[in-house]
Order: sequence, then C-alpha cells, then structure tokens
Amino acid sequence: MSPVVGGRSRIDRPFAIAYVRRMTKRTILTIPDSQLREVCAPVQTVDDGIRALADDMLETMYDAPGIGLAASQVGELKRLFVLDVAPEDAPRNPLVFINPKIVWSSEETSVYQEGCLSIPEYYEDVERPAVVKVQFQNRDGEDQELEANGLLATCIQHELDHLNGTLFIDYLSKLKRDRVLKKFTKQAKLAGKI
Ligand code: NI
Repeated sequence: MSPVVGGRSRIDRPFAIAYVRRMTKRTILTIPDSQLREVCAPVQTVDDGIRALADDMLETMYDAPGIGLAASQVGELKRLFVLDVAPEDAPRNPLVFINPKIVWSSEETSVYQEGCLSIPEYYEDVERPAVVKVQFQNRDGEDQELEANGLLATCIQHELDHLNGTLFIDYLSKLKRDRVLKKFTKQAKLAGKI
C-alpha cells in the first residue's frame, strides 16, 4: 500500500533489522503489468533466498515510500508480503508474512482511503472487514497467528489480495476502475512498456 494520504514519509528513520547483507532495491511493477494479475505460488521453504527477497522488498517499500508491498509487485510470484504500519514517530516495525491465510474476518467493516505502489498517486475509499485473524510464517519460517484491526487489518487484506492477483481498484465501480486502467495503460504505452 501507499502511505495514507496526508501521511508523512518515514524514509529517514533508521532501518531496524540487524543483518549485514546489502539489500537491493527492486523495481515496482505498475498496472497494467500482467504479473500483478497472477495468483502467486506458496513458498515451500523459508530459506535464505526467501529472506533475501523479503529484505529487498522491505528496502524497496521504505524507499518508495510505502507501508506494504507484495512479492508479485516486484515480479516474484510467491505468497509473501511485507508491511510496516508503525506511526511516523515510532521505531520501524517491519513485518514479513509468508504463506498468509485469513482464517477469520469480522462482520464489522471499516473504510480506509487506500493507495497502491503499483497504481501510483491514486487513492480511493475501500470498505473491508475491520478485524481479521491471519496465519502465516515469519521471516524465520515460524508459524504465527495474528489478530489485526485498524490500518494493519486493511493493509494485510490489501497485500494478501495482491497474492491472488486482486487489486484495490477491483472494489471500485466499473466506471472508476476503467478510468484508472485507461490512464495507466496510456502512460505505459507512452513509456514504451507495452
Ligand atoms: Ni498494493
């Protein structure tokens, strides 16, 4: 996800993960890239390759800046996303979700203005369950369960959607979706991407 509109950049904060490998910033794909519409494959083993990918994704996300990034957005069709919804004045709190699965969603919903690093500078309100329970593996391959609400719940659902080829614009009216797709398709053509 892109930062919430009006949010401030957290780009200057120190990176909290302790390791020595040099991270690589990846290129973030934008619509209408077809890889964003693929269903990603489960991660079989959480090995050093997956950890390196997660670290690259965090680096890419912080640099963008964004608050969430799914592997398919950097062209890796694997069930993995990263996020950090820590407030701007708090220490960084990078989270890695591998093979995430929502096992419970609340009836209650909430609305957030969402954005996406693959649809730059476009924001719309999206209604989603307000609370979700998610099972996943962390960066060390350990099984985790987390109950999330607020922005974290929305962000988890937004990023998990990416792993199934779903984008937040899919929740908008056809008119709005077609309008944004047309705009980005035109931009991609002008840039020689398609
Ligand atoms: Ni997104």
